Amino acid sequence: MVYLFFQQRALQPMYQASQSFHNLQLLDNSHKCAKYSPMRRNGKTKPVEFSEVDYPQVEYQRRQQFWDPIRLALFTLAIVAIIGIAIGIVTHFVVEDDRSFYYLASFKVTNIKYKENYGMKSSREFIERSHQIERMMSRIFRRSSGGGRFIKSHVIRLSPDEQGMNILMVLMFRYPSTDSAEQIKKRIERILYQSLKTKQLPLTINKSSFTLTSIDSKKMRNLLNSRCGIRMTSSNMPLPASSSTERIVQGRETAMEGEWPWQASLQLIGSGHQCGASLISNTWLLTAAHCFRKNKDPSQWIVTFGTTITPPAVQRSLGKIILHENYHRETNENDIALAQLTTRVEFSNIVQRVCLPDSSIKLPPKTSVFVTGFGSIVDDGPTQNKLRQARVETISTDVCNRKDVYDGLITSGMLCAGFMEGKVDACKGDSGGPLVYDNHDIWYLVGIVSWGQSCALPKKPGVYTRVTQYREWIASKTGI
Ligand code: ARG
Repeated sequence: MVYLFFQQRALQPMYQASQSFHNLQLLDNSHKCAKYSPMRRNGKTKPVEFSEVDYPQVEYQRRQQFWDPIRLALFTLAIVAIIGIAIGIVTHFVVEDDRSFYYLASFKVTNIKYKENYGMKSSREFIERSHQIERMMSRIFRRSSGGGRFIKSHVIRLSPDEQGMNILMVLMFRYPSTDSAEQIKKRIERILYQSLKTKQLPLTINKSSFTLTSIDSKKMRNLLNSRCGIRMTSSNMPLPASSSTERIVQGRETAMEGEWPWQASLQLIGSGHQCGASLISNTWLLTAAHCFRKNKDPSQWIVTFGTTITPPAVQRSLGKIILHENYHRETNENDIALAQLTTRVEFSNIVQRVCLPDSSIKLPPKTSVFVTGFGSIVDDGPTQNKLRQARVETISTDVCNRKDVYDGLITSGMLCAGFMEGKVDACKGDSGGPLVYDNHDIWYLVGIVSWGQSCALPKKPGVYTRVTQYREWIASKTGI
């Protein structure tokens, strides 16, 4: 189809050229006719001799003149150029028509001892080790000749082995759709084996243990679903890092479906959206305890997922609400709650769970974090139908407890984020929603929107429930 289209276009200029050649002659002839118009003849002007027989000769000469060697050369050149461009565009289309190829790689590493915590995907040990392996993979492929073809890799599982440990990971590539999975597999193996031989790698990979299996996107998604905090576009490409600093309050609407797939909206039947929440498993949501001040009866609530409240991408009802036993409404302490769906949600590119950080993780002040929600964009404004996001920065508890800021109201279970100059903040209706942190493309829930004095005021940043502080509480209630 594409080829035919360009062939036609390539022929068109030729056709046009010959057309205009005719026009040229026609114009010329009419000009001549005017000169020898009968009126002038009648006006006794002596007509120049012009025999009908001469005429074809004149035209023949003109034709010859038109096709002089320079014109012919230029014309040929133009045609060659047009055909060249057409071929270029066709190949461009073919090459650009890339497709994702997914592989499951499994291999043994002999220079590292397996640690028990590798079995827990949220453990610091698993996270650090898998980042190291993922970094190594991207160094291997990015430096190779077909470097641009590698998209990313994800460790799925680390398991014990007498010689060290086994690694199971998915590798994602983009290659022209015309290539076969087998061809690509050979290329990938070649690159890998070469780097095993020549490069100093931090991990000693046992070559004979290496297996690579081509998998389809569904299998890949299922494997990735064993991991949390991964965002994907609908075409299964990883989403680019978020960088919004612009204008929740002074945030922006989320651009893409699947950008914040753990975001949920908690709605009270008959009164609509009340709060945000974050999906942490197929059935559990984490939110703020104060969201259930009005109503603690799960049958009165519904939960929706997706970037708009209406229409929702997925909808569920609530089966159970667990408030923190020590939630104090006067001080906002322990503003955390769990809500369980009556029926599980299947993970997809649109609905996905966020990772819970290990209780030992501490973010330094001024770390970039993102808050998302359907809350108002001005104090006391209406709920937004489209999800919004804003980039904010963590603020140390010392600064946040200053007399001119929150004057000692911030306790160990709270986390401040925003800007001292105000302007960007969560607001009413964002409560219960996520404050997330991106660590190597894996997103962690570090805060739950809890309270603040008005919205986006200078020296009054947002106050969030510090999730790390409640890691054990969450595990004790849900087993997650
Ligand atoms: N408590 C509010 C709610 O119910 C959210 C407060 C967040 N305020 C802020 N300035 N960050 O939605």
